[in-house]
Amino acid sequence: MRSYYGLLAILSLAALAACSRTTPIPHLRKQGTATQLIVDGKPFLAMAGELGNNSATSLEYMKQVWPHLVDSKLNTVLAGVSWAQVEPQEGKFDFSVLDGVIQGARAHNLRLVLLWFASWKNGLSGYPPDWVKKDFDRFPRAQMVDGTLPTMGEAPRTLIEGSRTIELLSPLSDANRDADARAFAALMRHVREVDGSRHTVVMIQVENEVGMQGDTRDRSPLANQAFAGPVPKELMDYLAQHKDALIPELHQVWEAAGFKTSGTWEEVFGKGRPTDEIFMAWHFAHYINRVVEAGKAEYPIPMYVNCPQEGFGKRPKGGQSGGPMPDAMDVWRAGGPRIDLIGTDIYDPDFATMCARYTQSGNPLFIAETRGIPPNSLGNRVLYAFGRHDAIAFSPMGIERPTIPDIELTSAYDVIAQLAPLIVEHQGNGTMSAVIVGSDAPPQKVRVGNYTLTVAFRKPPRILGSPEQQGPFPNSAAIFIAAGPDEYYAAGNGVSVTFTPNTPGPPLAGLATVEEGVFVNGRWVPGRKLSGDDDGQGENLVLPRLYVLPSPLGWTGNLGGPASKGILHFTLYRYR
Ligand code: DGJ
Repeated sequence: MRSYYGLLAILSLAALAACSRTTPIPHLRKQGTATQLIVDGKPFLAMAGELGNNSATSLEYMKQVWPHLVDSKLNTVLAGVSWAQVEPQEGKFDFSVLDGVIQGARAHNLRLVLLWFASWKNGLSGYPPDWVKKDFDRFPRAQMVDGTLPTMGEAPRTLIEGSRTIELLSPLSDANRDADARAFAALMRHVREVDGSRHTVVMIQVENEVGMQGDTRDRSPLANQAFAGPVPKELMDYLAQHKDALIPELHQVWEAAGFKTSGTWEEVFGKGRPTDEIFMAWHFAHYINRVVEAGKAEYPIPMYVNCPQEGFGKRPKGGQSGGPMPDAMDVWRAGGPRIDLIGTDIYDPDFATMCARYTQSGNPLFIAETRGIPPNSLGNRVLYAFGRHDAIAFSPMGIERPTIPDIELTSAYDVIAQLAPLIVEHQGNGTMSAVIVGSDAPPQKVRVGNYTLTVAFRKPPRILGSPEQQGPFPNSAAIFIAAGPDEYYAAGNGVSVTFTPNTPGPPLAGLATVEEGVFVNGRWVPGRKLSGDDDGQGENLVLPRLYVLPSPLGWTGNLGGPASKGILHFTLYRYR
């Protein structure tokens, strides 16, 4: 009998290996208005978490981290791999730690997004190898204004009064670019060799939060010469070809300077900060595009850049210029056509606005970093990112820092994992959406399939026997999927919903059937049938809290009892 099972195990492993050998490498695919990440031949939702910058440099350290990632219900982890780590001496590569990280991910059934910390990270150059840092003649740095601290808000700690130099590799140096590209090509060649048929590594982030701190542009001799020269023809051609679809802020800068189609940077875009930022955006994008080209020549899985900044002139604290912020998205597209998408780090409380900013002109939503910031919990952000914007990935930063998994995150990931087959089926087709609604906000209307849903905030129900809950309350959020003309699935965090038909026929709609339940291996398993107190006596659909946890505000989820199953399946009827 034992030999039978042994044979069965061998055959199933062989089949698995054969399957992964035959499925294409991870790639992006359009579905309607959505872009999907395809892994092992199927659309993949990266319910991720980003490790601390240097967590993945020690396999010993990671031993304590892997179980925490599994408990957090991740299916993907974002892990840094640095130029200094893989090329400690020029031309000599060491991938031993990376191999251990890949094996650790496999052992815990996790996919990987590798973050290439190389020329730039957070507006500085902390991750190049020391043989690069020490050779500042061969590998030139960016320069700033002569000797004075620029008037750009809080000067970063790296700025030294009277210094012209910042510890930032100049993006105008071919030597900097080619050295980075060679190392990145070696990395991607190695990833293909060790993982090309297993697809543990599904995407690559190239560099991190690129930009220049301390000044609006690089003022090194190389940069000054380029700035005084003509705007590159590739950029001018892109702007002319996409004139009517440009991000409004860029269109406005170009228009204010007269829509010129040639000239120096200041002739085409005018004098001042936005022009300096457009100049830097072009050169950062052009440099990284060459790095991406070198990497894709070895192993062309999807590659993206990430960005913290907001628009022209709006800068967090020390300020960075030239990053792939929304305003400069067109410049990055023109300079970096091989870069597959612009990811975003959303630390802004206004999560909905930032998602809209970064998904302009079809840029897919890849949230490389975020955290729960009142009034939006991580759980709300998850439901909204995947439901409203067809997110490819959602990844809180520093995922291993809280000693216990964030229950709001794990509850939301659990629901998204259950709904995943439905989500990937409905992405980009107008039959799925989500809302975030605050306690002080009016109800939100959203069209999903044949109905317009009016979604109102519902404050946490009173804990039995306790006084009325007092605000302020965290926002609520919910995801809705139209599985049929009058059939929906929904999951959420404290909302009540009414329905208005948006197709010909009787003008009113009501709840025909409501049941809670779970998906088990893609199959719906119904639980309680709901009506009466659980659906406003039939008046409206009620989505209770996904989780039961005393929040900092002192309330718990639905009635303080067991957490709801989180998912409702319901059908509607129409009447007049
Ligand atoms: C954004 C960066 O991308 C991260 O690497 C990290 O430095 C955070 N800021 C701060 O923790």
